[in-house]
Amino acid sequence: MIDCVPIPTHRHHATMPEKNGSDANAMWGGRFTQSPSELMQKINASIDVDQRMYPQDIAASQVHASMLARQGIISESDCAAICAGLDEIRADIDAGSVEFSVELEDIHMNVESQLRTKIGAAAGRLHTARSRNDQTVTDLRLWLRDEIDGLSDRLAHLIRTLIEKADSTASVIMPGFTHLQVAQPVTFGHHLMAYVAMLGRDHSRLRDCRDRLNQCPLGAAALAGTPFPIDRHFTSDALGFSAPTENSMDSVSARDHVAEYLFTVSMLAVHISRFAEEVTIWNSDGFKFVELSDAFTTGSSIMPQKKNPDAAELLRAKPGAVIGALNQMLIVMKGLPLTYMKDMQEDKEPLFRAADNIDLCVQVMTGLVEDMQPNTDRMRSFLTRGFPTATDLADFLVRELDLPFRDAHHVTGRAVAMAEDAGIQLEELSLEQLQSLNQGIDDSVFDAIRLETSLETRQSYGGTSPTQVKAAIERARALWCHPA
Ligand code: ARG
Repeated sequence: MIDCVPIPTHRHHATMPEKNGSDANAMWGGRFTQSPSELMQKINASIDVDQRMYPQDIAASQVHASMLARQGIISESDCAAICAGLDEIRADIDAGSVEFSVELEDIHMNVESQLRTKIGAAAGRLHTARSRNDQTVTDLRLWLRDEIDGLSDRLAHLIRTLIEKADSTASVIMPGFTHLQVAQPVTFGHHLMAYVAMLGRDHSRLRDCRDRLNQCPLGAAALAGTPFPIDRHFTSDALGFSAPTENSMDSVSARDHVAEYLFTVSMLAVHISRFAEEVTIWNSDGFKFVELSDAFTTGSSIMPQKKNPDAAELLRAKPGAVIGALNQMLIVMKGLPLTYMKDMQEDKEPLFRAADNIDLCVQVMTGLVEDMQPNTDRMRSFLTRGFPTATDLADFLVRELDLPFRDAHHVTGRAVAMAEDAGIQLEELSLEQLQSLNQGIDDSVFDAIRLETSLETRQSYGGTSPTQVKAAIERARALWCHPA
């Protein structure tokens, strides 16, 4: 295939000044006589992907220039021209009036080339004492820090939405499942609060990840540091980092912050997908536990009666893209020797893909939760089968008759078999039938195995009794709704 593609060896680069009569890259073309082939440019360029880091690239360059001037490495007037030029470039890109060039590979060289057009030769001083190796990873850390801050806010909003929904459904009884079989009665609010716990951990992992990545690699230069008398602490402080990174070689080759973020959002995506699967089940004809709003469902082009839970199904599928990005990043990094290798340029596409997907998922889940209405009657009707209070009968035998739990379990198992044979529920067995299993049983047993009793007695910390759920909601509110 490749043989068939004509590869021009000489082309005109409108955006670039000629250098020594050659048309090689103006940024690094000093030792080249020919420009790279079109295919080389295609595989090498990252501008399509990394242009979204332009605000970070410009901010970091302005701080770098200020530091160079403070240290007497460039003049104040060059610094002023550089910073003003970069402000203009930011405004131009904001306005969509900059056409990025593939020949200039990436956002770093595109911005620098724009700067040269605006301020002339002084632009060439900006790259003193830095390399694209430390520049690109500085930009990426800044970008990721902003991304995490935005995602953390949206995730906190989702958590608050769950808390409010849990509050309004703290006493709505529903079957709790194990193995997707009716297990014990719980409340809808309690179920939602399980997701508050999960997503709360995801939120805290995001904060951890942010703390660890918030160090400034700028000044590591290509890999070994620089002979110029730079001030890395100034740069780090001015960009809001907690400290400069420690080792110049690690600074340009580390990408574990990207992988850590990708794991964190993969875990979040997995949690969201579990919720999405539950919503899909709850919404299905066999269950009908919840009613979804028109806003988060779609119709069928052929079957007019359909209202499909597409949002939930997509939330269930999206982790594929996110987890895929984590795998991709780990595979790219595995076995790379120090320090920078062009392989690492492949960090951004999976990162951005994962970030965009998880951001969307968090917002869609928020909408789903807000609109979703529990169907109280359907959920209760499920509890009239499957013997959901069998454990309560066993607990009754332990508490009232002092049976060891294992014996109580056995007696209860026989009661369940008896009810099953008769095609009735546990509470529909007669006192005589129950006493045939154990003489000591009296009619207080019937209160013990009511659904409401089962719920209300689960008073252990973190349990499903409505009072415990309300207490959990208050603790969660203190954390998420009015944090100290
Ligand atoms: N665009 C590159 C990246 O994202 C930075 C360039 C560093 N290039 C180099 N040849 N040392 O990784």
